[in-house]
Amino acid sequence: MESPRTHIDWPGRPAAWLSASEPPQSTFDQEFRPDPLRHTLVCGDNLDALKLLLPSLERKIRVIYIDPPYNTGNGLLYNDRFGSRGRDGDRHGAWLSMMAPRLLLAWRFLREDGVFFVSIDDRELPRLRMLCDEIFGEDNLVSTVIWRKKVVRGRGNRHILPQTEYILAYARDINALPPFRENLTPRMKTEYGHHDERGPYKKIPLAKSGTRQSPRPNLFYTLMAPDGSDIPCPTHQWRWSRETVERRRDEILMEKNRKGRWTVYTKQYLRSPEGEERKRTPESYYDRVTTSDGTSEMKELFGEVVLDFPKPSRLIRDLISWATPQGSSDPVMDFFAGSGSTAQAVLELNAQDGGSRPFYLVQSDDPISHPEFRSIYEICRGRVERVVKRLEKTGHSPLALKEYRLVDYPLKP
Ligand SMILES: C[S@@+](CC[C@H](N)C(=O)[O-])C[C@H]1O[C@@H](n2cnc3c(N)ncnc32)[C@H](O)[C@@H]1O
Repeated sequence: MESPRTHIDWPGRPAAWLSASEPPQSTFDQEFRPDPLRHTLVCGDNLDALKLLLPSLERKIRVIYIDPPYNTGNGLLYNDRFGSRGRDGDRHGAWLSMMAPRLLLAWRFLREDGVFFVSIDDRELPRLRMLCDEIFGEDNLVSTVIWRKKVVRGRGNRHILPQTEYILAYARDINALPPFRENLTPRMKTEYGHHDERGPYKKIPLAKSGTRQSPRPNLFYTLMAPDGSDIPCPTHQWRWSRETVERRRDEILMEKNRKGRWTVYTKQYLRSPEGEERKRTPESYYDRVTTSDGTSEMKELFGEVVLDFPKPSRLIRDLISWATPQGSSDPVMDFFAGSGSTAQAVLELNAQDGGSRPFYLVQSDDPISHPEFRSIYEICRGRVERVVKRLEKTGHSPLALKEYRLVDYPLKP
């Protein structure tokens, strides 16, 4: 039965929904043995691969990141044009029919506290958003991250130069997804320029700035200055109640300026009493790396650009580190792996924070003409090998890697 709620419809929808539950057309070349202490690379079509992985990994994956074909119509090495050409070809419907069963399966892999990230650009954004709203539930939308992928003025449009794309983030259950945290940048840490016996801190005015909406009566009162004079609240309310100010007296600073006016601050410490450094909530605008960083990274590893527009691994590393704690062993999945930037992100994040997150990557065997690599899958494996070698040289020991290949079911005699 179709859902009675608002949903996205296209002629291929019933067949797409059905194909998520049809049996796979192929099998693994060897028995799949889930092992949380190994990374897994699967070579083959991701729909069958997901169906074959599901019995072992259902509800076990903490983070899924995918970067599917954007349906631009101009993919060079892999198919990026769905549907037939011309006005009547339902390009969007064909793309949705490819995506829907894969997203239905992706949802089933997620743990209760799991999160799903998907990259996309303007073209399919509205349809992807509707499809994900339906599959993950619109209340589980965490955010639409805007990634500034380009800083130079390029070509591409006569009206507005495209410089951004998007990452939709959905929780399996928004109430079970722990808050995302990230480290402060070195520049932010310089703001903690004051010191006392508890360590570095920064001063934050106790007077609440901004909106005047719904002032709370318990936040509007007069404080007493060290010289016995009154300090009225300079705005519509303080940030802390009188009781909190009393309780946390040693975090309050009162300073008199040259004109004799008192200002009240709270001290925000860089570290907790246990010594843990303050983190912050990531923002929905992301501009730390661009596409050209992804390309440079590939040149550094391979000596050339073997696949166009790989994602910079730093972008994916940041997403994974927002969602998983330091030193985590939470499994990560990417079933449109391309050149393996997600593998690099996981390997390097583990090396950086002592984690042991295993990855499960799927990439089809799309052939390419290259003297060293016969397919995009081989590029992906090549990246993993190169990153592992580099990490081993610096004293790290990444988890071992296991490869599986999809093969046709043997014909029955
Ligand atoms: C946009 S690229 C991913 C790029 C990747 N994030 C990177 O940084 O290199 C999408 C990839 O998905 C692969 N792909 C497309 N359809 C697939 C399918 N049905 N099964 C497995 N891989 C597929 C394509 O070969 C392509 O490499």
